[in-house]
Amino acid sequence: MRSTKQRLLELGVLVGLLAVGAAIVVTLGLVPIKASSGHWPITHWLLSFASGRSIASQSALMGIEVPPLNEPGMLRLGAATYESNCAWCHGSPLQATPAVPAAMTPAPPNLVEHAERWKARELFYIAKHGIKFTGMPAWPTQQRDEEIWPVVAFLLALNRISEDEYASLLNRGEALDEPLGNSIVMGSIQNCTACHHASGHSIAGPRVPHLNGLASDYLVHTLRDFRDGLRPSGIMQPIAARLTDKDLQSLAEHFAVQEAIEYQTPGEVPLAQGEVSQDEADLAAGFQLIHGGDKGSKIAACQHCHGPAGESMSHYPSLAGQSALFIEEQLRLYAVGVRLGGEADIMHEVAEKLSPTQRRQVARAYAAMGQTATKLASE
Ligand code: HEC
Ligand code: HEC
Ligand code: HEC
Repeated sequence: MRSTKQRLLELGVLVGLLAVGAAIVVTLGLVPIKASSGHWPITHWLLSFASGRSIASQSALMGIEVPPLNEPGMLRLGAATYESNCAWCHGSPLQATPAVPAAMTPAPPNLVEHAERWKARELFYIAKHGIKFTGMPAWPTQQRDEEIWPVVAFLLALNRISEDEYASLLNRGEALDEPLGNSIVMGSIQNCTACHHASGHSIAGPRVPHLNGLASDYLVHTLRDFRDGLRPSGIMQPIAARLTDKDLQSLAEHFAVQEAIEYQTPGEVPLAQGEVSQDEADLAAGFQLIHGGDKGSKIAACQHCHGPAGESMSHYPSLAGQSALFIEEQLRLYAVGVRLGGEADIMHEVAEKLSPTQRRQVARAYAAMGQTATKLASE
């Protein structure tokens, strides 16, 4: 009878021979890696099964919390982001999967049917991390999780959205209503109108800033910062990357001369985008920071640079009337050093000293300063 030791030795030799055989097959290039023949059914099944199980378990283990998905503007921002980041592979209610990505192995599935198979947290996980070995890319930055949720909200509604509704969510046709008198702007502004409207006024909810009246120098440098990845945003980075220097300059000039937001005196709480607090104490603390700063914490009054009413001063961005959500998030990004480029250093010093409560208070005060036009309010 052979001993256990002998058996193990034989097994070891067998494994070794198999490994050498596999190495020879791979080294001689005998394994076809061509995408044109697709996967064998067994490979396809195995990969789908393994990735499906991984997505389900990993998204559960990470304890991803799903925020409310029906906030104002969420569907519109989700649709417009989907059109910009995803439709060129997955198709949309307006187009079948385009021919080039359709020839991938595996091909990007039509999400009208596929998205409903997944839970919200799983869709978030897929959109954020992508899927290895399939060509499904990760979100362009790993630092802006909150921008992914509108896309999840849109994917969950996708199978109920008709062609017409999708076109209307993208605000198609609006840009051409009024001739813009500049052929470069005419050509490239259609990439902006779904979210910023041709007037620069956000129509896709409080995550999208108003551009009307922002200084043209600021617009140019911040668009370059998106393009260079210094200002991380999975929504704006790909859009800015498609702009030439000429596009960028003329779009900045176009938005800078659009009528700015009207300012209101502090105290009159305006019709902003839904999240302005009525809390007088918070507002008063916010206005104090804007006009007087915080001497104890050595925080300069914001108005030194952003103007007494938050209007655009030279190349500093105007803040009045931007949503509280947007301002608070930008202050957080400066405070943690994620937003770079341009003159972000100046804001790092300010934002680092603001407490999270102060960030919220000053954001609310600036949001309360601007009166936004209700006729353009988002859904
Ligand atoms: C470069 C092409 C490409 C882009 C861009 C792309 N995807 Fe994908 N996507 C794929 C491929 C390929 C798969 C994998 C298909 C498979 O595993 O069978 C996939 C899979 C998925 C799945 C899983 C579908 C299923 O049921 O198997 C979801 C959900 C998804 N993508 C969402 C998105 C979203 C949201 C975006 C935009 C933020 C996006 N994708 C952008 C190529 C792409
Ligand atoms: C899918 C929606 C969407 C589209 C389309 C879009 N944007 Fe944006 N834009 C956003 C969001 C969201 C932000 C906020 C980014 C952040 O939080 O960092 C933003 C921010 C900006 C900013 C920064 C403003 C500030 O106050 O700092 C500029 C400038 C800008 N966009 C210009 C453009 C231009 C020009 C186009 C067209 C070429 C365009 N955007 C298209 C959603 C969009
Ligand atoms: C010393 C001048 C200075 C002071 C003081 C200052 N800021 Fe700024 N702020 C800037 C500059 C410059 C930028 C543009 C930075 C960049 O390019 O990213 C900016 C940008 C911002 C932005 C981003 C706006 C957008 O549209 O993206 C916010 C929000 C902001 N500041 C809030 C504040 C608040 C709140 C205070 C007061 C607590 C304040 N700032 C004080 C100079 C200043």
